[in-house]
Amino acid sequence: MVDRTAADIVSMTASCSARTYNRLPVVIERGEGVWLYTKEGRRLLDCFAMFAVVNFGHANPRISRALYTQAEKISVVAPSLHNETAAEFAWRLCRFTKARRMHSAIIGTEAFEKSVKILRKRGYMALRKWGDRAKVTENSAQIIVCRGNFHGRTYASLSASTNPRYRQNFGPFVPGFVAIPFGDAEALERAITPQTVGFVLEPIQGEGGIHVPPSGYLRQVRQICDSAKIALVFDEIQSGMGRTGKNFASDHEGVKPNLRLVGKALGGGALPIAAVVGDEELVGLIEPKDDGSTFAFYPLGCAVAIEAMNILEEGEVTANAARVGEYFMRHVRELSHPLIKEVRGLGLFIGIEFAEGVSSSRLQEMLLEEGMIWCMAGEHVLRFTPPLIITESETDMAVEGLKNVLARL
Ligand SMILES: Cc1ncc(COP(=O)(O)O)c(C=O)c1O
Repeated sequence: MVDRTAADIVSMTASCSARTYNRLPVVIERGEGVWLYTKEGRRLLDCFAMFAVVNFGHANPRISRALYTQAEKISVVAPSLHNETAAEFAWRLCRFTKARRMHSAIIGTEAFEKSVKILRKRGYMALRKWGDRAKVTENSAQIIVCRGNFHGRTYASLSASTNPRYRQNFGPFVPGFVAIPFGDAEALERAITPQTVGFVLEPIQGEGGIHVPPSGYLRQVRQICDSAKIALVFDEIQSGMGRTGKNFASDHEGVKPNLRLVGKALGGGALPIAAVVGDEELVGLIEPKDDGSTFAFYPLGCAVAIEAMNILEEGEVTANAARVGEYFMRHVRELSHPLIKEVRGLGLFIGIEFAEGVSSSRLQEMLLEEGMIWCMAGEHVLRFTPPLIITESETDMAVEGLKNVLARL
């Protein structure tokens, strides 16, 4: 390998990669637990865990061992064949999510796309089965989503989005999505029509700014969907896998969806793997001609996901997320700084909303100078989603760094 400097790497990236992100000018060489190490030997506290992917810490030895062990046997097996690790993964994921059946995907947005297909197919099958009782007419199914949602960047997800910054220049969009305000159960009741086949929402909105809905909201939407006989879908790609102090954010209200989307940390912070899990009546509708993808059920991803579930089932990581998250939020609130408008979240899924006028890129750069990597969720919300193994004293460093930055703003 050519011996390049960090500056070489930054300009090399800029010269030939699509400019999808405003990348911070650091080159990460390795990670360990909650720490990232740069090419130039700096140690940085990871306060965002690669958008809530690295829940169990960087280079987690258990995850790495699962990966190496599987890689020595076989990494990919065509989904048209059988493999024991893949079978074990499917079975374990159903048990872990209390679902009857799962459908394999690789990344989150793909899981969303698959859920749209399942919801639509169910609508049209019901039409054929029950005739006029189900009034969804052919090719006109509608799915209700929430304003401010984020389900990914491919076309169905983008079409469901209400964010003009993501959508501009990319129309025409996939029809059939209706957006209602997040956290407003009455708006859901009003939006349901005979064409509605499902309601999809994040139990806590992540990319939209870490918005926690009013208490009881998930139970209310469950009841509304039940009485309208439409499917309820929780996108727990970011809020799941222990992030909020329970396995899934919806567990806080004890609400079970008909479909749940999982991804990100499911791959143990090592590999991409995602899924749609849920009721037989829905996931069971998928037949060989309906869907599929080359890498579905790839054993390497399945192996790390099994280990991720093993870790979560032991309970310590989730308990830590709940305890340390509360501790951190209390300490940030105690800063009671006029530029901080609100501190909100659950477990280690936390947003710190700043007053308008505070430049988000400047904020991130200043935090980097303090030795930490943070990222935004929306325009003015700084997101704190570190690895779930972070300790109280490590969050003290984050609070201290934040305090120093606030003093300089
Ligand atoms: C709630 C939610 N759904 C879906 C996605 C898309 O996941 P991916 O980037 O893996 O496609 C994200 C990504 O941030 C997300 O937060």
